[in-house]
Amino acid sequence: MVDKTINLLDKKFTIFIEKKTIENRIHELANQLSDDYKGKNPIFVVVLTGGFIFASDLLKSLDFISEVYFIKVSSYAGLASTGKLNFELEIPKDKIVGRDIIVLEDIIETGLTISGVSQSLKTNGAKSVEIVSLLTKPSCFKCDLTVKYVGFAISDLFVVGYGLDYNQYGRQLNDIYQIVDAS
Ligand code: IMP
Ligand code: MG
Repeated sequence: MVDKTINLLDKKFTIFIEKKTIENRIHELANQLSDDYKGKNPIFVVVLTGGFIFASDLLKSLDFISEVYFIKVSSYAGLASTGKLNFELEIPKDKIVGRDIIVLEDIIETGLTISGVSQSLKTNGAKSVEIVSLLTKPSCFKCDLTVKYVGFAISDLFVVGYGLDYNQYGRQLNDIYQIVDAS
């Protein structure tokens, strides 16, 4: 393990999951999705902003070509989830109706964001909705949630890198870092 510590704004972060480990797990997830969705022509819905790097690497590893759409939902300010959902970018309803949808998310904490997204897609006529999340924090779940595809289940830590930010900083880091002192 490389001994790496970085500073973002007022916080210090230390290496948590290295790029190579992330890459290997993404290949496994891509193989699983390629098997499960063979011949189904699913559409991918990427949850911005945090999901952009994960989605890019995962989509390139699939063995099928598909439609990809983006949504933007905000529910988070600084280190704590606000629990309020605000849809800033949505998909036209006609793209959703009758389709098998795979939602790509960076991290699930309380699950409020992804539950809202999943509910909205179902309400708009999706045939099926499954969630793929690079990271989950199961001890923080506040919803009755089934996340079928999980990269890594982690404990209740604040993490950055590989798409995830601390007040918009750190998204382009190759590895995932955990906060050293959250106070
Ligand atoms: P939830 O609605 O509580 O599940 O929050 C999910 C959203 O909060 C994610 O999509 C992230 O944008 C953000 N989030 C949750 N935990 C972290 C973290 O450890 N680092 C950075 N962002 C996080
Ligand atoms: Mg997110």
